[in-house]
Amino acid sequence: MRILSAKVHGFRNLKELDLTFSPQVNLVLGRNGVGKTNLLEALNFLALGRSHRGSKSDEMISFDRDALHVALEVEEESGLLLTCEFGLDRAGGRRFRIDGEAVRRRSDLVGRLVTVFFNPDSIRLVQGAPQRRRHFTDHGLSEFDPVFLSHLTALQRVTRQKTGLLRDLKKGLANPTEARRELDSWNRELSVHAAEVCAGRQEYACLLTPFSHERHKTLTDNELKLTFYYRPNLESVKSRQKKDPEKPFAKEALAADIFEEIDYISESEVQRGRPRIGPQLDDFEVLLGGVDLRVFGSQGETRTATIALVLARSDVLYQKRQIRPILFFDDIFSELDRHRAHRLQEMSSRHHQVFVATARSDDVADWRPGEMKAWNVQGGGFTEATDELP
Ligand SMILES: Nc1ncnc2c1ncn2[C@@H]1O[C@H](COP(=O)(O)OP(=O)(O)OP(=O)(O)O)[C@@H](O)[C@H]1O
Ligand SMILES: [Mg+2]
Repeated sequence: MRILSAKVHGFRNLKELDLTFSPQVNLVLGRNGVGKTNLLEALNFLALGRSHRGSKSDEMISFDRDALHVALEVEEESGLLLTCEFGLDRAGGRRFRIDGEAVRRRSDLVGRLVTVFFNPDSIRLVQGAPQRRRHFTDHGLSEFDPVFLSHLTALQRVTRQKTGLLRDLKKGLANPTEARRELDSWNRELSVHAAEVCAGRQEYACLLTPFSHERHKTLTDNELKLTFYYRPNLESVKSRQKKDPEKPFAKEALAADIFEEIDYISESEVQRGRPRIGPQLDDFEVLLGGVDLRVFGSQGETRTATIALVLARSDVLYQKRQIRPILFFDDIFSELDRHRAHRLQEMSSRHHQVFVATARSDDVADWRPGEMKAWNVQGGGFTEATDELP
Protein backbone atom coordinates (compact mmCIF):
# COMPACT_ATOMS: atom_id res chain seq x y z
CA MET A 1 0.00 0.00 0.00
CA ARG A 2 1.28 3.48 -0.80
CA ILE A 3 0.34 7.10 -0.43
CA LEU A 4 0.92 8.67 -3.84
CA SER A 5 0.13 12.24 -2.87
CA ALA A 6 -1.35 14.43 -0.17
CA LYS A 7 -3.13 17.77 -0.01
CA VAL A 8 -3.08 19.33 3.43
CA HIS A 9 -5.03 22.43 4.56
CA GLY A 10 -5.16 23.95 8.02
CA PHE A 11 -3.29 21.15 9.80
CA ARG A 12 -1.28 22.47 12.81
CA ASN A 13 1.66 24.61 11.64
CA LEU A 14 1.75 23.09 8.13
CA LYS A 15 1.44 25.47 5.20
CA GLU A 16 -1.00 24.57 2.40
CA LEU A 17 0.72 21.48 1.02
CA ASP A 18 0.37 19.53 -2.20
CA LEU A 19 3.01 16.79 -2.10
CA THR A 20 3.75 13.85 -4.38
CA PHE A 21 5.59 11.00 -2.71
CA SER A 22 8.10 8.35 -3.69
CA PRO A 23 6.65 4.82 -3.64
CA GLN A 24 9.71 3.75 -1.67
CA VAL A 25 11.45 6.15 0.72
CA ASN A 26 10.40 9.66 1.74
CA LEU A 27 12.67 11.70 3.98
CA VAL A 28 11.31 14.62 5.94
CA LEU A 29 14.25 16.66 7.21
CA GLY A 30 14.51 19.78 9.31
CA ARG A 31 15.29 21.25 12.68
CA ASN A 32 13.23 20.72 15.83
CA GLY A 33 9.72 22.14 15.80
CA VAL A 34 9.39 22.80 12.05
CA GLY A 35 6.47 20.43 11.34
CA LYS A 36 7.96 17.01 10.50
CA THR A 37 5.87 15.00 12.95
CA ASN A 38 2.84 17.07 12.01
CA LEU A 39 3.02 15.82 8.42
CA LEU A 40 3.38 12.20 9.54
CA GLU A 41 0.46 12.67 11.91
CA ALA A 42 -1.71 14.04 9.07
CA LEU A 43 -0.77 11.14 6.76
CA ASN A 44 -1.39 8.53 9.46
CA PHE A 45 -4.63 9.99 10.82
CA LEU A 46 -7.01 7.94 8.66
CA ALA A 47 -5.39 4.65 9.60
CA LEU A 48 -6.60 5.11 13.17
CA GLY A 49 -9.38 7.63 12.72
CA ARG A 50 -7.54 9.72 15.28
CA SER A 51 -4.16 11.26 16.05
CA HIS A 52 -1.37 8.84 16.98
CA ARG A 53 -0.42 11.43 19.60
CA GLY A 54 -3.85 11.20 21.20
CA SER A 55 -4.53 14.88 20.43
CA LYS A 56 -8.02 16.33 20.39
CA SER A 57 -9.45 17.49 17.05
CA ASP A 58 -9.26 21.10 18.12
CA GLU A 59 -5.54 20.87 18.78
CA MET A 60 -4.82 19.77 15.21
CA ILE A 61 -6.56 22.68 13.51
CA SER A 62 -4.13 25.53 12.76
CA PHE A 63 -4.33 28.26 15.39
CA ASP A 64 -5.62 30.77 12.83
CA ARG A 65 -8.17 28.46 11.15
CA ASP A 66 -11.59 27.02 11.94
CA ALA A 67 -11.21 23.74 10.06
CA LEU A 68 -8.71 21.39 8.53
CA HIS A 69 -8.86 19.09 5.55
CA VAL A 70 -6.48 16.38 4.37
CA ALA A 71 -6.88 14.35 1.16
CA LEU A 72 -4.63 11.42 0.28
CA GLU A 73 -4.38 9.53 -2.94
CA VAL A 74 -3.66 5.94 -1.99
CA GLU A 75 -2.66 3.02 -4.18
CA GLU A 76 -3.73 -0.38 -2.90
CA GLU A 77 -1.68 -3.52 -3.50
CA SER A 78 -4.01 -4.45 -6.37
CA GLY A 79 -3.20 -1.19 -8.13
CA LEU A 80 -6.61 0.26 -7.23
CA LEU A 81 -6.55 3.99 -6.47
CA LEU A 82 -8.45 5.38 -3.50
CA THR A 83 -9.05 8.93 -2.36
CA CYS A 84 -9.06 9.09 1.43
CA GLU A 85 -10.12 12.32 3.08
CA PHE A 86 -10.84 13.69 6.50
CA GLY A 87 -12.01 17.03 7.76
CA LEU A 88 -12.33 18.39 11.28
CA ASP A 89 -13.77 21.69 12.44
CA ARG A 90 -13.88 23.68 15.65
CA ALA A 91 -17.59 23.00 16.15
CA GLY A 92 -16.70 19.33 16.68
CA GLY A 93 -17.53 18.17 13.14
CA ARG A 94 -15.59 15.12 11.88
CA ARG A 95 -15.87 13.77 8.37
CA PHE A 96 -14.17 10.72 6.93
CA ARG A 97 -14.56 9.85 3.27
CA ILE A 98 -13.17 7.07 1.16
CA ASP A 99 -13.65 7.54 -2.56
CA GLY A 100 -16.20 10.23 -1.85
CA GLU A 101 -18.32 7.96 0.34
CA ALA A 102 -18.83 8.92 3.97
CA VAL A 103 -17.43 6.53 6.57
CA ARG A 104 -19.56 6.87 9.68
CA ARG A 105 -17.94 4.66 12.27
CA ARG A 106 -14.30 4.63 13.20
CA SER A 107 -14.27 0.83 13.18
CA ASP A 108 -15.17 0.95 9.47
CA LEU A 109 -11.82 2.61 8.83
CA VAL A 110 -9.88 -0.33 10.24
CA GLY A 111 -7.95 -2.09 7.50
CA ARG A 112 -8.53 0.59 4.82
CA LEU A 113 -5.38 2.68 5.12
CA VAL A 114 -2.95 0.32 6.80
CA THR A 115 0.09 1.84 8.48
CA VAL A 116 2.60 1.22 11.21
CA PHE A 117 3.81 4.21 13.18
CA PHE A 118 7.09 3.97 14.97
CA ASN A 119 8.59 6.62 17.25
CA PRO A 120 10.73 6.60 20.42
CA ASP A 121 7.57 6.17 22.47
CA SER A 122 6.81 2.87 20.72
CA ILE A 123 8.99 0.92 23.14
CA ARG A 124 6.11 1.25 25.56
CA LEU A 125 4.71 -1.69 23.61
CA VAL A 126 7.23 -3.78 25.53
CA GLN A 127 7.74 -1.67 28.65
CA GLY A 128 4.37 -0.03 29.18
CA ALA A 129 1.03 -1.11 30.60
CA PRO A 130 -0.71 -4.31 29.38
CA GLN A 131 -3.26 -2.19 27.52
CA ARG A 132 -0.57 -1.32 24.94
CA ARG A 133 0.07 -4.97 24.15
CA ARG A 134 -3.62 -5.79 24.04
CA HIS A 135 -4.19 -2.92 21.65
CA PHE A 136 -1.25 -3.99 19.47
CA THR A 137 -2.68 -7.51 19.23
CA ASP A 138 -6.30 -6.51 18.79
CA HIS A 139 -5.53 -3.92 16.15
CA GLY A 140 -3.18 -6.28 14.29
CA LEU A 141 -5.83 -8.99 14.23
CA SER A 142 -8.68 -6.67 13.32
CA GLU A 143 -6.81 -5.56 10.21
CA PHE A 144 -7.42 -8.95 8.61
CA ASP A 145 -10.19 -10.49 10.71
CA PRO A 146 -13.44 -8.48 10.77
CA VAL A 147 -15.21 -11.24 12.76
CA PHE A 148 -12.67 -10.81 15.56
CA LEU A 149 -13.22 -7.04 15.45
CA SER A 150 -16.98 -7.45 15.82
CA HIS A 151 -16.55 -9.75 18.83
CA LEU A 152 -14.02 -7.38 20.36
CA THR A 153 -16.36 -4.41 19.94
CA ALA A 154 -19.24 -6.41 21.42
CA LEU A 155 -17.09 -7.61 24.32
CA GLN A 156 -16.10 -4.03 25.15
CA ARG A 157 -19.73 -2.92 25.02
CA VAL A 158 -20.98 -5.75 27.24
CA THR A 159 -18.12 -5.27 29.71
CA ARG A 160 -19.04 -1.57 29.98
CA GLN A 161 -22.69 -2.44 30.58
CA LYS A 162 -21.80 -5.07 33.16
CA THR A 163 -19.47 -2.65 34.94
CA GLY A 164 -22.25 -0.06 35.10
CA LEU A 165 -24.67 -2.61 36.51
CA LEU A 166 -22.22 -3.80 39.18
CA ARG A 167 -21.59 -0.20 40.18
CA ASP A 168 -25.34 0.49 40.47
CA LEU A 169 -25.83 -2.68 42.51
CA LYS A 170 -23.10 -1.69 44.95
CA LYS A 171 -24.54 1.79 45.32
CA GLY A 172 -28.00 0.29 45.90
CA LEU A 173 -29.37 1.97 42.77
CA ALA A 174 -30.67 -1.24 41.18
CA ASN A 175 -33.30 -3.73 42.21
CA PRO A 176 -31.17 -6.68 43.45
CA THR A 177 -33.31 -9.50 42.02
CA GLU A 178 -33.71 -7.93 38.61
CA ALA A 179 -30.10 -6.79 38.52
CA ARG A 180 -28.84 -10.31 39.26
CA ARG A 181 -30.93 -11.68 36.42
CA GLU A 182 -29.54 -9.01 34.15
CA LEU A 183 -26.01 -9.75 35.34
CA ASP A 184 -26.47 -13.40 34.49
CA SER A 185 -27.50 -12.53 30.95
CA TRP A 186 -24.57 -10.10 30.54
CA ASN A 187 -22.20 -12.83 31.73
CA ARG A 188 -23.61 -15.31 29.21
CA GLU A 189 -23.24 -12.84 26.36
CA LEU A 190 -19.82 -11.76 27.55
CA SER A 191 -18.57 -15.38 27.65
CA VAL A 192 -19.35 -15.93 23.98
CA HIS A 193 -17.41 -12.83 22.88
CA ALA A 194 -14.62 -13.47 25.40
CA ALA A 195 -14.06 -16.97 23.99
CA GLU A 196 -13.67 -15.51 20.50
CA VAL A 197 -11.35 -12.74 21.64
CA CYS A 198 -9.13 -15.02 23.75
CA ALA A 199 -8.93 -17.63 21.00
CA GLY A 200 -7.98 -14.90 18.53
CA ARG A 201 -5.30 -13.47 20.82
CA GLN A 202 -3.76 -16.89 21.38
CA GLU A 203 -3.67 -17.66 17.65
CA TYR A 204 -2.26 -14.25 16.84
CA ALA A 205 0.58 -14.61 19.38
CA CYS A 206 1.47 -17.98 17.81
CA LEU A 207 1.35 -16.49 14.31
CA LEU A 208 3.51 -13.53 15.23
CA THR A 209 6.35 -15.32 17.00
CA PRO A 210 8.14 -17.00 14.04
CA PHE A 211 8.07 -13.73 12.07
CA SER A 212 9.31 -11.65 15.01
CA HIS A 213 12.11 -14.13 15.53
CA GLU A 214 13.12 -13.88 11.87
CA ARG A 215 12.96 -10.06 11.86
CA HIS A 216 14.96 -9.86 15.05
CA LYS A 217 17.64 -12.14 13.64
CA THR A 218 17.99 -9.98 10.52
CA LEU A 219 18.23 -6.80 12.59
CA THR A 220 20.79 -8.07 15.07
CA ASP A 221 22.49 -11.24 13.70
CA ASN A 222 21.40 -12.63 17.03
CA GLU A 223 20.04 -16.17 17.29
CA LEU A 224 18.10 -15.55 20.52
CA LYS A 225 14.45 -16.31 19.99
CA LEU A 226 12.01 -13.41 20.30
CA THR A 227 8.63 -14.64 21.54
CA PHE A 228 5.32 -12.85 21.93
CA TYR A 229 3.58 -14.89 24.59
CA TYR A 230 -0.07 -14.59 25.53
CA ARG A 231 -0.80 -14.35 29.28
CA PRO A 232 -4.55 -14.78 29.57
CA ASN A 233 -6.34 -13.71 32.73
CA LEU A 234 -9.03 -16.41 32.67
CA GLU A 235 -8.20 -19.86 34.05
CA SER A 236 -10.32 -21.55 31.36
CA VAL A 237 -8.01 -20.05 28.74
CA LYS A 238 -4.83 -20.71 30.69
CA SER A 239 -5.57 -24.40 31.09
CA ARG A 240 -6.19 -24.84 27.34
CA GLN A 241 -3.06 -22.92 26.48
CA LYS A 242 -1.04 -25.13 28.81
CA LYS A 243 -2.46 -28.32 27.32
CA ASP A 244 -1.65 -27.46 23.72
CA PRO A 245 -0.53 -23.93 22.83
CA GLU A 246 -0.62 -24.56 19.07
CA LYS A 247 -4.13 -25.99 18.92
CA PRO A 248 -6.93 -23.50 18.17
CA PHE A 249 -9.48 -23.42 21.01
CA ALA A 250 -12.93 -24.95 20.50
CA LYS A 251 -14.86 -21.74 21.08
CA GLU A 252 -18.24 -23.07 22.15
CA ALA A 253 -16.77 -25.23 24.88
CA LEU A 254 -14.49 -22.37 25.91
CA ALA A 255 -17.46 -19.98 26.17
CA ALA A 256 -19.27 -22.46 28.43
CA ASP A 257 -16.21 -22.77 30.70
CA ILE A 258 -15.73 -19.00 30.80
CA PHE A 259 -19.34 -18.53 31.83
CA GLU A 260 -18.92 -21.06 34.63
CA GLU A 261 -15.71 -19.38 35.78
CA ILE A 262 -17.24 -15.90 35.85
CA ASP A 263 -20.49 -17.13 37.36
CA TYR A 264 -18.55 -18.81 40.18
CA ILE A 265 -17.02 -15.53 41.36
CA SER A 266 -20.07 -13.42 40.47
CA GLU A 267 -21.00 -12.72 44.10
CA SER A 268 -17.56 -11.25 44.81
CA GLU A 269 -17.92 -9.00 41.75
CA VAL A 270 -21.22 -7.75 43.15
CA GLN A 271 -19.57 -7.03 46.48
CA ARG A 272 -16.67 -5.15 44.90
CA GLY A 273 -18.90 -3.35 42.45
CA ARG A 274 -16.72 -4.12 39.42
CA PRO A 275 -15.62 -7.05 37.22
CA ARG A 276 -12.74 -9.02 38.69
CA ILE A 277 -11.75 -11.29 35.82
CA GLY A 278 -11.95 -11.26 32.03
CA PRO A 279 -10.02 -10.59 28.81
CA GLN A 280 -9.87 -6.89 29.71
CA LEU A 281 -7.09 -7.99 32.09
CA ASP A 282 -5.10 -10.07 29.59
CA ASP A 283 -1.42 -9.39 29.01
CA PHE A 284 1.41 -10.53 26.75
CA GLU A 285 5.07 -11.12 27.49
CA VAL A 286 7.89 -10.25 25.16
CA LEU A 287 10.65 -12.77 25.74
CA LEU A 288 14.16 -12.66 24.28
CA GLY A 289 15.86 -16.01 24.70
CA GLY A 290 13.26 -16.78 27.36
CA VAL A 291 14.00 -13.59 29.35
CA ASP A 292 11.16 -11.12 29.95
CA LEU A 293 12.23 -7.88 28.28
CA ARG A 294 9.80 -5.79 30.30
CA VAL A 295 11.76 -6.66 33.43
CA PHE A 296 15.28 -7.30 32.17
CA GLY A 297 15.61 -5.66 28.74
CA SER A 298 18.16 -2.93 28.03
CA GLN A 299 16.92 0.17 26.17
CA GLY A 300 18.50 -0.97 22.90
CA GLU A 301 17.25 -4.55 23.22
CA THR A 302 13.77 -3.34 23.98
CA ARG A 303 13.80 -0.95 21.06
CA THR A 304 15.02 -3.60 18.62
CA ALA A 305 12.45 -6.11 19.90
CA THR A 306 9.70 -3.54 19.42
CA ILE A 307 10.77 -2.92 15.82
CA ALA A 308 10.91 -6.67 15.16
CA LEU A 309 7.40 -7.13 16.58
CA VAL A 310 5.98 -4.28 14.59
CA LEU A 311 7.53 -5.59 11.36
CA ALA A 312 6.31 -9.09 12.24
CA ARG A 313 2.81 -7.69 12.52
CA SER A 314 3.17 -6.42 8.98
CA ASP A 315 4.42 -9.88 7.87
CA VAL A 316 1.32 -11.51 9.35
CA LEU A 317 -0.86 -9.00 7.56
CA TYR A 318 0.92 -9.75 4.32
CA GLN A 319 0.43 -13.47 4.82
CA LYS A 320 -3.29 -12.97 5.47
CA ARG A 321 -4.23 -10.16 3.12
CA GLN A 322 -1.21 -9.56 0.86
CA ILE A 323 -1.03 -6.02 2.18
CA ARG A 324 2.18 -4.26 3.08
CA PRO A 325 1.46 -1.40 5.49
CA ILE A 326 2.99 2.01 5.05
CA LEU A 327 5.75 2.57 7.61
CA PHE A 328 6.29 5.81 9.50
CA PHE A 329 9.58 6.21 11.36
CA ASP A 330 9.58 9.35 13.43
CA ASP A 331 12.95 10.11 14.95
CA ILE A 332 14.08 6.56 15.57
CA PHE A 333 17.39 6.05 13.80
CA SER A 334 19.36 8.24 16.18
CA GLU A 335 18.44 5.82 18.96
CA LEU A 336 19.75 2.69 17.25
CA ASP A 337 23.35 1.63 16.79
CA ARG A 338 24.62 2.11 13.20
CA HIS A 339 24.47 -1.54 12.31
CA ARG A 340 20.85 -1.92 13.38
CA ALA A 341 19.86 1.36 11.79
CA HIS A 342 21.31 0.23 8.44
CA ARG A 343 19.66 -3.15 8.64
CA LEU A 344 16.33 -1.54 9.41
CA GLN A 345 16.66 0.95 6.56
CA GLU A 346 17.52 -1.75 4.07
CA MET A 347 14.91 -4.21 5.33
CA SER A 348 12.01 -1.77 5.59
CA SER A 349 12.34 -0.14 2.19
CA ARG A 350 12.54 -3.47 0.35
CA HIS A 351 8.79 -4.08 0.49
CA HIS A 352 7.18 -1.05 2.10
CA GLN A 353 6.69 2.59 1.42
CA VAL A 354 8.52 4.40 4.22
CA PHE A 355 8.23 7.91 5.63
CA VAL A 356 11.11 9.02 7.81
CA ALA A 357 11.23 12.19 9.88
CA THR A 358 14.52 13.21 11.40
CA ALA A 359 16.32 16.30 12.60
CA ARG A 360 19.67 14.58 12.00
CA SER A 361 20.26 13.96 8.32
CA ASP A 362 23.49 12.07 9.22
CA ASP A 363 21.34 9.19 10.38
CA VAL A 364 20.05 8.57 6.88
CA ALA A 365 23.13 9.74 4.97
CA ASP A 366 24.16 6.34 3.57
CA TRP A 367 20.67 5.24 2.66
CA ARG A 368 20.29 5.03 -1.11
CA PRO A 369 17.29 2.93 -2.05
CA GLY A 370 16.11 2.86 -5.67
CA GLU A 371 13.54 5.61 -5.31
CA MET A 372 13.87 8.31 -2.73
CA LYS A 373 12.48 11.77 -2.19
CA ALA A 374 13.53 14.24 0.44
CA TRP A 375 12.10 17.50 1.74
CA ASN A 376 13.62 20.23 3.83
CA VAL A 377 11.03 21.60 6.21
CA GLN A 378 11.07 25.13 7.58
CA GLY A 379 8.24 26.76 9.49
CA GLY A 380 5.69 24.25 8.17
CA GLY A 381 6.76 24.79 4.53
CA PHE A 382 8.16 21.90 2.49
CA THR A 383 10.91 22.32 -0.12
CA GLU A 384 11.87 19.32 -2.15
CA ALA A 385 15.60 18.60 -1.93
CA THR A 386 16.22 17.66 -5.55
CA ASP A 387 19.92 17.07 -5.99
CA GLU A 388 21.17 17.69 -2.49
CA LEU A 389 20.12 14.57 -0.69
CA PRO A 390 21.79 14.32 2.69
N1 LIG B 1 -2.81 23.67 16.05
C1 LIG B 1 -1.61 24.18 15.76
N2 LIG B 1 -1.52 25.31 15.01
C2 LIG B 1 -0.32 25.83 14.70
N3 LIG B 1 0.86 25.31 15.08
C3 LIG B 1 0.83 24.17 15.81
C4 LIG B 1 -0.40 23.55 16.17
N4 LIG B 1 -0.13 22.44 16.89
C5 LIG B 1 1.23 22.38 16.97
N5 LIG B 1 1.81 23.40 16.33
C6 LIG B 1 3.25 23.69 16.18
O1 LIG B 1 3.83 22.82 15.23
C7 LIG B 1 5.22 22.92 15.42
C8 LIG B 1 5.92 21.72 14.82
O2 LIG B 1 5.63 20.55 15.50
P1 LIG B 1 6.23 19.11 15.09
O3 LIG B 1 5.91 18.23 16.22
O4 LIG B 1 5.77 18.69 13.76
O5 LIG B 1 7.79 19.41 15.02
P2 LIG B 1 8.97 18.46 14.50
O6 LIG B 1 9.49 19.05 13.22
O7 LIG B 1 8.53 17.08 14.46
O8 LIG B 1 10.04 18.69 15.64
P3 LIG B 1 11.01 17.67 16.43
O9 LIG B 1 12.23 17.51 15.58
O10 LIG B 1 11.31 18.42 17.67
O11 LIG B 1 10.27 16.42 16.66
C9 LIG B 1 5.43 23.16 16.90
O12 LIG B 1 6.20 24.32 17.05
C10 LIG B 1 4.03 23.41 17.44
O13 LIG B 1 3.93 24.50 18.31
MG1 LIG C 1 8.91 15.43 15.68
